[in-house]
Amino acid sequence: MGNNAKDQVQSQILGGETLRKRFPLKYGLIFLFFIFFVLWIMFYSVNFTDHITCKLAELKKKVPTTETLKRPTKAPKRTSVCSFRSVLPDDAREAEILKDYIAWPETPSVPANFSLKDTTHAPHSTFTILPHNGGRSWHVGDQLEVLIQINDFNGRPKKSGGDVLFARLHNPTVRAGVVGNVLDHHNGSYTAVFSLLWEGSAQVEVILIHSSEAVTVMERVNLEQPGRIFFRSLFRFGSVSEAAICNVCLNAPLEQLCNYTDIRTGEPWYCYKPKKLKCEHRITHSFGGYKLKPMPLENKLFKIGVNMKASIRSPGPSKITILPKLKALNEAVPAYASGRVMSRPVGYYYQGAWQPLDGTTVHQFNNAAVISQCLKGKVVHMFGDSTIRQWFEYLIAKTPNLKKFDMKTPPKTGPFIALDYTKNILLTFRCHGPPIRSPMLPVSQLHFVANELDSVDGSNNTVVVIGVWAHFSTFPVEVYIRRLLSIRRAVERLLTRAPGTLVIIRTANPKRLTPPESMTTDDYYFLQRDKILRAIFKEVNVKLLQAWEMTQAHYLAHNLHPPPPIIKNMIDVILSHICPQLGI
Ligand SMILES: *[C@@H]1O[C@H](CO)[C@@H](O)[C@H](O)[C@H]1NC(C)=O
Ligand SMILES: *[C@@H]1O[C@H](CO)[C@@H](O)[C@H](O)[C@H]1NC(C)=O
Ligand SMILES: *[C@@H]1O[C@H](CO)[C@@H](O)[C@H](O)[C@H]1NC(C)=O
Ligand SMILES: *[C@@H]1O[C@H](CO)[C@@H](O)[C@H](O)[C@H]1NC(C)=O
Repeated sequence: MGNNAKDQVQSQILGGETLRKRFPLKYGLIFLFFIFFVLWIMFYSVNFTDHITCKLAELKKKVPTTETLKRPTKAPKRTSVCSFRSVLPDDAREAEILKDYIAWPETPSVPANFSLKDTTHAPHSTFTILPHNGGRSWHVGDQLEVLIQINDFNGRPKKSGGDVLFARLHNPTVRAGVVGNVLDHHNGSYTAVFSLLWEGSAQVEVILIHSSEAVTVMERVNLEQPGRIFFRSLFRFGSVSEAAICNVCLNAPLEQLCNYTDIRTGEPWYCYKPKKLKCEHRITHSFGGYKLKPMPLENKLFKIGVNMKASIRSPGPSKITILPKLKALNEAVPAYASGRVMSRPVGYYYQGAWQPLDGTTVHQFNNAAVISQCLKGKVVHMFGDSTIRQWFEYLIAKTPNLKKFDMKTPPKTGPFIALDYTKNILLTFRCHGPPIRSPMLPVSQLHFVANELDSVDGSNNTVVVIGVWAHFSTFPVEVYIRRLLSIRRAVERLLTRAPGTLVIIRTANPKRLTPPESMTTDDYYFLQRDKILRAIFKEVNVKLLQAWEMTQAHYLAHNLHPPPPIIKNMIDVILSHICPQLGI
């Protein structure tokens, strides 16, 4: 949940405090010392990575690199405890289709001795605004095309595609912004296409998120080091306590493992078996730490402003002026009848307010009275990660009568309940199950969203909000596919029982990138998982909360936890779904 290092340290301290309350101080101190000692021994005497690197690494060595990177074909042997690839048999075909769907364009291989000079360099790359049809001016409703040329550190044009590029058109004065659609020509050039949605000036912004070479490295790391984020559980029985490392997959013989695979969903989860205690003595779950093999040369592919989150400049103009929409006569002749790529944003900002383009209207819910009026008589269940908790926190902060009941649960993971007796509002939050990177959490509260959904009655007055994305970046994508498919089944069951239930699913969003974190939580991983989420819920009667575009189109910097003005826009969208008649 906490995603930067400081946050995590703080989280762990918070977790420790919660635990300490339950013990007399002296035992607590002895216990803590013991835990630190055990962990110290474990961290420094065992080479974890070897333990937790799954069969996949072995598998990878046997087949040529590029093939493995794009779509590993072989399933692991049945004896493997690494369940990354084991989506349910019924889901195997869908999982294959999803993996094909997100297949990234082939990226250059990155040998151990690669030369940085041959890789993508943002300062040497350029974009050019292409002239409009026949040189006429741009009008609202037109599309703008921008050609992007990616060059290496020597200024030579790249010959292959696969770079991760974001493009945005914006106007800071009217706080307008829209995301562009980037098309990879697989030859070092890209086209960004924008919908022109407001009158006046519009500034093109192109950002290199990652070089294609960095993508190669990130894909490789996900296959070879799926245990680079690890988890920890405490076991206790009487006066004996032990700690053990846990993960989705641990590469050890079965007899050395505790199998906590969820019976109902089949979601895999394992810990190393404690030495003295039994598997049933597990009492807590928490984020354990990072363990990434050093990659000194590869790290040069992750330099802010150089080849990561780096602006690409235009040698010419980077701004256009958009004139009012042309009258029907010209509209009859679409500018892009020739089958060229169109930009189809899901919405855009104008005056800092999100305007969806799907025909719905977003109202402003600017005060407690109108928020409570909207939520009157409703039951709202929120499930997911800290980006969902932000919404819970926003709602209780904005509506003083909606009071959080102090359940003495951990501050980051909950579960939480808030009630407004006079308006009959119930709001709940619960974090999703492992692999949640949380401060210490009792295992009694480690629940899977799919199972939770099965205990929601649903009704015309029930709203279910789900956000499960940020904690799935370090594993092969099958882990995420599996999780979402089990959630989808539970959503379908819920909607069958109670068709009036409103289900809202939050999509992923880009974050502030920092070099060490990019190997674990990164926009590229999120981008790919976001596509999977959209595809999985495409045919289901749910509303998607378009966090991906809402954060990218906004003028504020990318942040895993979007800042308050974006949260306000998100809540306005949610409340507009709940009560389309209300608001202003
Ligand atoms: C762990 O338990 C689950 C459910 O009981 C079972 O399906 C799975 O095969 C077990 N894992 C291993 C490696 O035996
Ligand atoms: C890297 O090493 C391989 C063989 O070990 C060699 O063929 C290749 O030229 C080297 N590449 C560079 C860029 O030094
Ligand atoms: C790259 O491909 C695009 C689309 O096919 C083409 O228009 C462009 O000329 C190509 N660029 C180079 C440098 O070959
Ligand atoms: C729920 O809403 C639907 C559609 O408006 C309506 O047909 C149905 O009767 C409602 N159900 C209940 C229990 O109020």
